[in-house]
Amino acid sequence: MKVIRVKDSLEGGALAFTLLKEKMAQGARTFGLATGSTPLDFYRQMRASNLDFSECVTVNLDEYVGLGREDSQSYAYFMEEHLFQHKSFKASYLPNGLAEDLTAEVQAYNDLLAEHPVDFQILGIGNNGHIGFNEPGTPFDAQTQVVDLAESTIAANARFFDNPNQVPRQAISMGISNIMAAKCIVLMAYGDSKASAIKATVQGPVTTAVPASVLQTHPEVYLIVDEAAVALLD
Ligand code: GLP
Repeated sequence: MKVIRVKDSLEGGALAFTLLKEKMAQGARTFGLATGSTPLDFYRQMRASNLDFSECVTVNLDEYVGLGREDSQSYAYFMEEHLFQHKSFKASYLPNGLAEDLTAEVQAYNDLLAEHPVDFQILGIGNNGHIGFNEPGTPFDAQTQVVDLAESTIAANARFFDNPNQVPRQAISMGISNIMAAKCIVLMAYGDSKASAIKATVQGPVTTAVPASVLQTHPEVYLIVDEAAVALLD
């Protein structure tokens, strides 16, 4: 795992975008994408670039159960707003939060991931060390599944909703084994709320109690972090 310190998310987003360009030059065409405030500057760079993504496929990490693409809190809406309405891709996939048959949806997403192996995966990290919506305790061999969100995640994500009761309690999330299958992973983290999760991810034991710690066992991971996020590292 390579830890790269940057001044702020602007510099971090630019660096992540440089890595994407390098990987595209080497043939990367399938991108695993994340939502949240962390990757916003990375998407800004993608939008502003004159790169042609029309031969590229995107697969997102997760989606809230119960929210459709018309809902401004859904991750499908987020991706549309920050990337897809500005840049064309060959195809873009997210789990369908409105699927009536969640078991079938989960299976379909795993089949999709098998068909489109991810070359370049973007990740943020939850304050409790979650990646995607893989909360502490998720087995490392899990594939895409319906997950119950941790109370701390519901509380952290409530800031995006008018009322905390509106935060969905479940999500469909790529599993840790799907994430680990990506050839290259770039995790960004900014701010002191991420400091203990980053400490445990980089210097703690590899444990399901801190889902992101599994990244220590992946061959190509870049951690792009600001000073506040690495403040607790030895
Ligand atoms: C959500 C998403 C994660 C994201 C995390 C952190 O829980 N499912 O993919 O990494 O939030 O969000 P933020 O970047 O806003 O701190």
